[in-house]
Amino acid sequence: MQLDLDQAPPPPLLLLLLLILTASIPHASRAASFDYADALDKSILFYEQQRSGELPEDQRATWRGDSALTDGQDVNVVDLVGGYYDAGNNVKFGFPGAFTTTMLAWSVIETGLELDSLGELGYAKEAVRWGADYISKTYSAPDVLWAQVGDAQADHACWERPEDMDTPRTAYRIDAAHPGSDLAGESAAALAASSIVFQITDPGYSSELLAKAQDIFRFADAYRGKYSDSLGEVVTPYYNSFSGYEDELLWAAAWLYKASRDEQYLSYLIENGAGFGGTTGTYYTATWDNKLAGVQVLASQVIWKLSLQSIARYKTQADNFVCSVLPGNPKSTATITPGGLLYVQEASNMQYVTSAAFLFFTYAKYLEDASQTVSCGDVQVSPDELNAFAKQQVDYILGNNPRNSSYMIGFGRNFPQRVHHRASSMPSIEDHPAKIGCQEGFQYLQASSPNPNPIVGGVVGGPDSSDQYSDDREAFTQSEPSTYINAGLVGALATLAGQTL
Ligand SMILES: *[C@@H]1O[C@H](CO)[C@@H](O)[C@H](O)[C@H]1NC(C)=O
Repeated sequence: MQLDLDQAPPPPLLLLLLLILTASIPHASRAASFDYADALDKSILFYEQQRSGELPEDQRATWRGDSALTDGQDVNVVDLVGGYYDAGNNVKFGFPGAFTTTMLAWSVIETGLELDSLGELGYAKEAVRWGADYISKTYSAPDVLWAQVGDAQADHACWERPEDMDTPRTAYRIDAAHPGSDLAGESAAALAASSIVFQITDPGYSSELLAKAQDIFRFADAYRGKYSDSLGEVVTPYYNSFSGYEDELLWAAAWLYKASRDEQYLSYLIENGAGFGGTTGTYYTATWDNKLAGVQVLASQVIWKLSLQSIARYKTQADNFVCSVLPGNPKSTATITPGGLLYVQEASNMQYVTSAAFLFFTYAKYLEDASQTVSCGDVQVSPDELNAFAKQQVDYILGNNPRNSSYMIGFGRNFPQRVHHRASSMPSIEDHPAKIGCQEGFQYLQASSPNPNPIVGGVVGGPDSSDQYSDDREAFTQSEPSTYINAGLVGALATLAGQTL
């Protein structure tokens, strides 16, 4: 693989073909203008509503109250208060939670200037800090990482507000004898990325996060295994580590290198790229489970900054990710709905859309900085085309779609009303201070009325492969928002809102 790609313009015939293919993408050329700054503000506000623990004075989402104030006490010694509830449930799942924090931090790193100009930087950093503080607590001793708080089966058997919770807040851990290199790798990545966010404004905190990230990575690498093998049924029905742990080890190394510039992490990326699938990747989706595409995009920036031939194959794989997702090139494989949405699967499909949009914007920026293009077979794809696709996906979310519906709660005129979310679907504790018990709560799941507390800024799982959507709480694959759906969207919206400044 040559580092210097052929930058000659494509021959006219190919160019023509590309134009025709691009023009045929549904809705791609339809002009749409949204208030991206408003959507951005809401996408961050969403995280305040997902907060667990003691809410701060400056909490803007005041319909929520303090909750889960004794998390960690079933094991007596550990303070596990804080963090985010995962989605429409009240469990603190460590694996997607850490991924969320990494992506939020990455959003801030890439779009800090835009966020600042838009008055959102402070809120975005608080969203990162809320996640990082909790992850920091979960690494309570060397080689001990708390993977989850809350008995997920018991939690899912109830429909309760977090403030009323009475299900077991069991804490589950991984350690040297019960390893979890995926969870530990992602936790290390999250803290390393977060340390970059606070490098200038809070150097003490930043160093603390980085030191912890380094030790968690050592633990992740020294004791190899999947956390879902160690914890079994506690996590497998929810967040099984399908893609294994190698992607997280590379992801952690990439973030640690970016945060510390310590050569050992770069060597790790070089030595393990092929063996761990980073330079031979087969997964072309970016999710809480699989981070290879993220690794490849990050590593590409490193390649260009350091002119590093030895890991140039990461760039080939980043290209493969883009080509597979982007319609209208010889290597596209992804399904695009008739209305133009990237479609991977029924459950929480929007997570793939938001992660891809963020990675496209970010990769486009890195490509531009390095005067590079993407190679899809013999077709060269420009950064502008990546930006156009990412914008089109975000526009779909915000309302440019066959249903003319926004999939962000509280944004636009027409948005999901019956969202699968316990707290949101029930009266707030201010309006209804009396406890609503586990079974009693199900009347709110089944009610046909709109959620009394719209979880503003959350993006739901989204429509099916025919662009159809059920505004129905029970249809959770479509109607549930989650922390990891929004994480990449924050950066994507900041990019778009920044362009309007
Ligand atoms: C969506 O908006 C377009 C353009 O205004 C209109 O033609 C179409 O009928 C609308 N579709 C629905 C389902 O409301």
